[in-house]
Amino acid sequence: MAEEIKEIKKAIIPVAGLGTRFLPLSKVLSKEFFPLVDKPVIQYIAQEIKESGIEEIIFIISPRQKTILKYFQKDEELEKILSERKKVDTLKQLHDFQDVFKGLKMTFVVQKEPKGDGHAIFQAAKYLKNEPVVNSFGDDIVVSQTPAVLQLMNIYKTCQAPVIGLKRLPKDKIPAYGSVAVEKISNNLYKIKKIIEKPQPSEIMSDLVIMGRHILTPDVFEYLKKAKPTKKGEIILTEVLGKMLDEGKPIYGYELNGEWLECGDKLKWIKSFFYLALKDPQYKDELKQYIKTIK
Ligand code: UTP
Repeated sequence: MAEEIKEIKKAIIPVAGLGTRFLPLSKVLSKEFFPLVDKPVIQYIAQEIKESGIEEIIFIISPRQKTILKYFQKDEELEKILSERKKVDTLKQLHDFQDVFKGLKMTFVVQKEPKGDGHAIFQAAKYLKNEPVVNSFGDDIVVSQTPAVLQLMNIYKTCQAPVIGLKRLPKDKIPAYGSVAVEKISNNLYKIKKIIEKPQPSEIMSDLVIMGRHILTPDVFEYLKKAKPTKKGEIILTEVLGKMLDEGKPIYGYELNGEWLECGDKLKWIKSFFYLALKDPQYKDELKQYIKTIK
């Protein structure tokens, strides 16, 4: 009998990294909470997941990370003060924000030590029942008509194997990313043949790179469980996926439609902020005028 196709209902967002590229600020505020115009990065990511039809987000947090709980939780005390002060519009804004995430279950799992993104993802294993799951890293957003996560979920329906979000970059940028060798299947869809994380220029295999969106299947968790830490003591998802490929497991790549906005280092975050601010109907005109005045 054919195996039943399992629907994707859960998503993991690991936010337990050290964010060393933003120190010392990231000592007190994790990079997932940096604002892009008027919302923290994490809100764009959670919204993309909700709009993709996911029912539960499993946040992987560090022992120090309390902000995330507070941010998504209702604040009765604050609402009481606002209502006593008759701040009707402000209260409405707060309620609108809460409505966006209504019906979405949020689970918080602690990664005791920052032992790599793969190790963080593995912390969600006990909340999964032999089912496929979305992984969205906490420092990448995609502005697109169809949410990026939904684009990958649609591919999973037909291929029933791990799917990695891909983007095209100029060759000189690729050494900082995961490079892939691919075989084209159809528009935007590829079978991944090999992955090299942070390749030397001579090792670059195509102009496609891995970005922070994945569909992971239960066998990925088997590999994560067995994975040996790197010299730095980390388990890295891309390396684990590379090993699966070396052992003949199928993995697909989908070149995502949309604008990829990265927020993992200072310049990337500043660029992403500018991109969104200059597209925002409320601010763009005045901002463009203002920029012209800067000498
Ligand atoms: P990054 O490598 O981009 O984040 O991890 P980082 O390690 O926090 O940043 P730098 O390199 O020190 O500046 C990708 C995602 O995985 C999470 C991060 O929070 C980010 O969302 N992560 C990484 C964990 O949850 N745990 C880890 O041990 C490592």
